[in-house]
Amino acid sequence: MKMKRDVEIDIDNNTRLRTLLKIDVSEKYVAWLNDYEIMKYTEQNYFEHFFSNVCDFVEQKYNSENDLLFGIFSDDKHIGNIKLGPISWEHKSAEVSYFIGDKNYWGRGIATKCVKSIIDYGTKVLHLEKFNSGYYELNLGSEKVLKKCGFCVEGVRVSNVVFEGKRINSILVGFIPKLS
Ligand SMILES: CC(C)(COP(=O)(O)OP(=O)(O)OC[C@H]1O[C@@H](n2cnc3c(N)ncnc32)[C@H](O)[C@@H]1OP(=O)(O)O)[C@@H](O)C(=O)NCCC(=O)NCCS
Repeated sequence: MKMKRDVEIDIDNNTRLRTLLKIDVSEKYVAWLNDYEIMKYTEQNYFEHFFSNVCDFVEQKYNSENDLLFGIFSDDKHIGNIKLGPISWEHKSAEVSYFIGDKNYWGRGIATKCVKSIIDYGTKVLHLEKFNSGYYELNLGSEKVLKKCGFCVEGVRVSNVVFEGKRINSILVGFIPKLS
């Protein structure tokens, strides 16, 4: 399936998703990826990010047939990302991942609205039927976001990741819009 690459989705009056472009990569965005407080519950935390790597990542996702990487823009500012992908066209399923990098925008319901919107787009436009995501068990914010969007726990990868010197579980969740 040929995917439309340049996509814009309105979330509310001042927030929208737009396919991320190389020109959107800023020092601010790179700094989010290197910020322990922001990334501590994600795999980004385990390596250092540089401007050029981030540009390569964004370009690679832009050219991918199996990923849609969106920037989250609020008040016309880039505040975070949300990704639908990898998409499995055979199984009509996709992974969903996200972060709000600008801490001023935490706790305003933005991640919840963005996940709901991306699922709506994936279902209606891309005809996907299953959405998968996951979080470290200590990530209460992400747990709430995914629950509010209808995701159910499908599995626990016991003692799967090292967090601050301790082994903790990672939680696997899924959502099937047709069953909701
Ligand atoms: C986790 C994260 C995505 C939440 O985004 P957000 O836009 O602040 O989330 P929302 O405002 O939609 O919050 C949804 C619910 O979670 C709660 N919540 C948000 N962050 C929380 C936290 N750190 N601890 C406990 N609850 C939290 C909110 O209060 C809200 O609850 P309510 O509906 O009962 O009021 C955001 O903090 C973030 O990007 N963190 C860093 C990166 C990350 O962890 N990404 C996800 C990896 S799986």
